[in-house]
Amino acid sequence: MLITLWLRLGAFLGKLLLWLLGLGLLGWALATAWFAWQHSGAVSAEEQIPSGEAAMTQDIIQTAVRIVDQHRESTRYLRDAHAKAHGCVKAEVQVLPQLPVDLRQGVFSEPGKTWQATVRLSNGNAYPQFDSIRDARGMAIKLLDVSGKQLLADQAGRREQDFVMFSHPNFFVSDVAEYRQNVAAQADGKKVMAFFPGWDPRTWQVRHLFIALATLSPAPDSPTQTTYFSVSPYKFGQGNAKFRVMPDPASCPAYTLPKQNQALPNFLRNALNQQLSTDRVPACFVLQIQRQNANKFMPIEDTSVEWRESDAPFETVAKISLPAQDFDTPALNLQCDNQSFNPWFGVEAHRPIGGINRLRKAVYEAVSDYRHSRNAEQ
Ligand code: HEM
Repeated sequence: MLITLWLRLGAFLGKLLLWLLGLGLLGWALATAWFAWQHSGAVSAEEQIPSGEAAMTQDIIQTAVRIVDQHRESTRYLRDAHAKAHGCVKAEVQVLPQLPVDLRQGVFSEPGKTWQATVRLSNGNAYPQFDSIRDARGMAIKLLDVSGKQLLADQAGRREQDFVMFSHPNFFVSDVAEYRQNVAAQADGKKVMAFFPGWDPRTWQVRHLFIALATLSPAPDSPTQTTYFSVSPYKFGQGNAKFRVMPDPASCPAYTLPKQNQALPNFLRNALNQQLSTDRVPACFVLQIQRQNANKFMPIEDTSVEWRESDAPFETVAKISLPAQDFDTPALNLQCDNQSFNPWFGVEAHRPIGGINRLRKAVYEAVSDYRHSRNAEQ
C-alpha cells in the first residue's frame, strides 16, 4: 500500500517536473520571439527627445556629485566614473591612406593624415580598486589641434576631438529616465535590486541586469589587449555611426607580454608600463566605424541595443599607435588626473546623439567642473 503511494507520488512529481520544464521552455521561446519582434524593423535616423529630459538630467547631476563626494580619495576629488587610470599615453592616429570617399568625414576627411593624440586608459568603477576585480575598462582618446568650430560654445579654444569608450558594446540602461532611476538606487547602495524598481514585473529590467553583469568582466592581460566601444551613437558627417577601437597587433612589431602578477592592485598599469616603457614596444589598434542603416533595427535612442554586425559591419577608418614612452611619472600622472575627456569635446561632424549622450553633455561638464574646483581649493 505504502509502496504504491510512493510510486504514485514519484510519478506525479516526475510529470509535474516535465510540465514545469515544458512551460519554462515555452515561456523562454515566447519571450525570445517577442523580443525579436520588438527589436526588428526600421528605426528613425533622427533624435527623438522625450519631454522632461532636462529635469531628469538635473536630478542625475545631483546624484553624480553625491557619488564624487562619497568616493573622494584622501584630499583629491576623483572622476564620478572611470576614477582609476592605468595611465595617460601619447598616441598617433593615422587616417587610412586609401580611405574610401564616403568614409572621409570630420577628422577622417584627409586620407593619410596623422593626428597627435592623448589616450587615457582606465577602470570603470567610481573609486579605485584592485584591477583583478570584474569591471568595465575605459579608453578615452583626445585628438589634438583639431580645427573647426567646437560643439560647446564655452570650450571654443580647445581644438580637440574626443572619443570616449568602454569595453562592452551596449549599456545597462536604455535612456535617461531609466538611468535616473537606476543610478539613484545604486547611490543608495542597491545593486541587483536597482534593476527591480517595483513590484510590477513590467518594470523589471532583467535583460539590462544581464548587460550590467556582462559589462563587469574579468580584467584583460593588458589595457592594450581589449576592444573598446563607443556604445552610444554619433553623427558621422550627414549619417550616424557607432565606433570601436580594436587591438591590431599585426601592425606593430611582434610582442609577447611577459606574465604579470595579477594579484598586484595595479597590474594593468604595470602591463602597460612593461610594454611601452621597459620593453620599448609600441601598441597598435584600429579605429572602426559602424554606420547606421535605419532600415535595420539600429536605434539611436536606446543604448541597451547593440547594433548587429550582420546589419552593418565595422569599417576601419584609422590606425592608432601608442609609441614606446615613459608615461608613469608623478608629474604625468597628475596631469592625467587633471585632464577632462568628454564626448562633447569635438566638432559637429562627430556630434554625440541620443538620450544618453545628451545626458552626458550636462553631467561630464558638471562633474569635471566640480572636481577641478574642489581640487583647486586644496
Ligand atoms: C555611452 C556610454 C558611456 C561610455 C562609453 C562612457 C565612458 C566613459 C569613460 C571612458 C570615462 C573616462 C574618461 C576619462 O578617461 O577621463 C567616463 C567618464 C565619466 N563618465 Fe562616462 N560613459 C558612458 C556613459 C555615461 C553616463 C550615462 C554618465 C552619466 C550621466 C557618465 C558619466 C561620466 C562622468 C561624470 C565621467 C567623469 C567625467 C570627469 O570628471 O571628467 N558616463 N565615461
